[in-house]
Amino acid sequence: MTTPACYAIRTAPIGDKTTRSASSQMPTESAKESLRALPSGPLTGRLRLPGDKSVSHRALMLGALASGESSLDGLLEGEDVLATAAAMRAFGANVERIAPGEWRVHGLGVGGFLEPETVIDFGNAGTGVRLAMGLAGIQGFATTFTGDSSLVGRPMGRIFDPLRRMGVQILSRSGDRLPGTLRGPETPIPIEYRVPVASAQVKSAVLLAALSTRGTTTVIEPVPTRDHTERMLTAFGAAIETTVDGDGVRTISIEGGLDLKPQTVVVPGDPSSAAFPIIAGLIVKGSEIVVENTMLNPTRTGLIETLIEMGADLTIENRRTVSGEEVGDVCVRASELHGVTVPPERAPSMIDEYPVLAVAAALAEGETRMEGIGELRVKESDRIGMMAAGLKANGVAVEAGPDRLVVRGGSTAPAGGAAVSTSLDHRIAMSFLVLGLAAAEPVAIDDADPIATSFPTFRDSMTDLGARFEAVATA
Ligand code: S3P
Repeated sequence: MTTPACYAIRTAPIGDKTTRSASSQMPTESAKESLRALPSGPLTGRLRLPGDKSVSHRALMLGALASGESSLDGLLEGEDVLATAAAMRAFGANVERIAPGEWRVHGLGVGGFLEPETVIDFGNAGTGVRLAMGLAGIQGFATTFTGDSSLVGRPMGRIFDPLRRMGVQILSRSGDRLPGTLRGPETPIPIEYRVPVASAQVKSAVLLAALSTRGTTTVIEPVPTRDHTERMLTAFGAAIETTVDGDGVRTISIEGGLDLKPQTVVVPGDPSSAAFPIIAGLIVKGSEIVVENTMLNPTRTGLIETLIEMGADLTIENRRTVSGEEVGDVCVRASELHGVTVPPERAPSMIDEYPVLAVAAALAEGETRMEGIGELRVKESDRIGMMAAGLKANGVAVEAGPDRLVVRGGSTAPAGGAAVSTSLDHRIAMSFLVLGLAAAEPVAIDDADPIATSFPTFRDSMTDLGARFEAVATA
């Protein structure tokens, strides 16, 4: 048997900078660190990813609701997930960090959550707060949820609406924004809910609320989104069933009021974080890297599919299953990319990857059209607007519409040289740093701190591969 070419690549040391304690978890909006990415030589080596953010939030939440002790291995220790850990403690669960990435959660059982003594502040974490509002907002006590200046600007009506139908009282001064106070009813009402936007967060909030609701709750999902909640609920012993009709519409039914059994969850590497080194490896000339342990759940692989269509030299080795999720090592070599049209129906499977795809598009010959991506306007920032502005400032031709982004690229390096603002958005920050590695002049971001919400080891891991970053002195 021949060794796949990508396994000849040397092993880069794995940074272990993921050790912030859960008690010091909130992002500080005042301490901004400006950072610049410099044109870099070939990136080479192997990178081990931090744990998947979606799976990490869900593992902490299901662990907190199960009866007994769950073990979580490979948990992402980014600020968003640490906010969820702190929230589960505030509801009375015993959440303990044993070693880097290794956590134990002693759950309270369905009906065991306690009224928190303080406001639950989720910082920047949209997934954390939306899922927690389902899980805990349905309980028969009042909880006030809030977040940072990015999170309080994001729409929450999509969560409030189904929860109101289940009997939750919701007070929000602005109607559909945080802060919001949720008080669950004495007897929650099981509902049938057709998810009006393609959103795994909405689907998951209803499924998590259903766990504390006697009877059968049904969620109808016309457009499939990431299915980690369904997979993990099955593993924790929930009575959940999914059927798919001829048009691909999914109907998910769950029986509430039943106990969950504690589990051992091994969290696979985050494909949304993998997107940054993968695209850096494709656009920095001469690069050859392996991104190890990348989750390959088919509801998350839209970016890989798109990059292959664009001509990427990308292969997957060592496919295996970890805690019910498919994973593999993604091997990439610098490639001559060309533009493609990304169809709207692919959006849910790569929703967080469009900002960095736009960077790949800037180095791809011709036009890359990203259609049906209006949801990007209500992420941690308006990602269509932020990418269009930052790419233009760095010499890339872009056209933005309400739900579309078109990038006109070329194989010669874009000019670079501009500083961009990141608006508390980790993926905007990392995307422009990746652009700076392949541009003619450095690209600076005004604030690198948000990167810690999802990929705390980004800078060290990328530096180990050969990426060059430099702190920018601020006045
Ligand atoms: C997530 C779902 C997506 C995604 C987010 C994580 C999840 O959001 O953008 O980063 O873990 O369920 P939407 O549900 O709003 O599409």
